[in-house]
Amino acid sequence: DEVKITIDPVGKVVKGSRSQSILESCMRSGVWLPHACTHGTCGTCKATLVDGEVDLRDVSGFALMDFEREEGKILLCQGFPKGDVVVEAEIEEEEGVDYPLVSDLVTSVVAMDKVTRDVVLVTLRADREPVILPGQYFQWHLPGSAETRSFSVAKLDGDLLTFHIRYLPGGAASKWIFEEIALGDEVLLSGPYGRFFLREPARPLLFLAGGTGYAPIAAMLNEIAKRYPDTEGAVIFGAKDRSSLYCKDELSELAKRVTGLKVYFAVSDESGLKGEDDVYSGTVADVLKERFATATGHTAYVSGPPLMVESVIAALYARRLFKRDIFREDFFSLE
Ligand code: FES
Repeated sequence: DEVKITIDPVGKVVKGSRSQSILESCMRSGVWLPHACTHGTCGTCKATLVDGEVDLRDVSGFALMDFEREEGKILLCQGFPKGDVVVEAEIEEEEGVDYPLVSDLVTSVVAMDKVTRDVVLVTLRADREPVILPGQYFQWHLPGSAETRSFSVAKLDGDLLTFHIRYLPGGAASKWIFEEIALGDEVLLSGPYGRFFLREPARPLLFLAGGTGYAPIAAMLNEIAKRYPDTEGAVIFGAKDRSSLYCKDELSELAKRVTGLKVYFAVSDESGLKGEDDVYSGTVADVLKERFATATGHTAYVSGPPLMVESVIAALYARRLFKRDIFREDFFSLE
């Protein structure tokens, strides 16, 4: 089952397996390659296959176009080596960042808290204390299947991990988590994955979250409250209606601990709200445009459904922020 994966141009060699994607084998060996979704949707892990053969599994036509395939491009997160392979990819390194190794965790469900009609907060106790960067996610292994779904850690407290999970009609993971899972059940995780994590704050920060896209931002804000309470900036959390503002109390508490942080809520299905309780009518992008004439000098973290992320990033560009100042996490819906 074992294969040799060589990463060019540096010539790094990693022990891989036919049953693991190239990305997974590398991340388990401490070789950090560019990635975001790990589900063949975003295209971040695109690389060139220089030698050998791979089995490309679930690949979205948007993430890897036909002509790119013909040119020998693959997605590392969906590329399973059929034998020894050589790929050309950029190994990522970031100053001051110690990437945690990807590994498996055996956990059990210790709490489930339904906070809105379609969001449940699930807390798992792991068999050890995991190391993650605030904002990263784990893959949950669906029982009886080879499939995984990704959920960001909203809170890590020793061996306890809390996730925010939204119900997706018809979704296999939703059916399991909302209808079948019970306290004490075992859940297998692997990770952590993702490059949407908090960097040491050097400038004022903007956190822009839609729905459960708030989860990784919650992890970042908790870290800020603990380690960088003098940070300045703002959080805009958006949802459809007031009853979906499930993080309102938590954000108000955080704003007391990080006094330079202003919190706004955006509610898209109700008009005429004027900011009472910091709740405004409109989308996250609308409230951003209304409250910030410019975003110059900020670093922004944007997380939520892809369309929301796109509209917020367009508004940030218009407010003079550059790509390098923006970190994004797209919450793709996988059924
Ligand atoms: Fe591979 Fe998103 S397509 S990480």
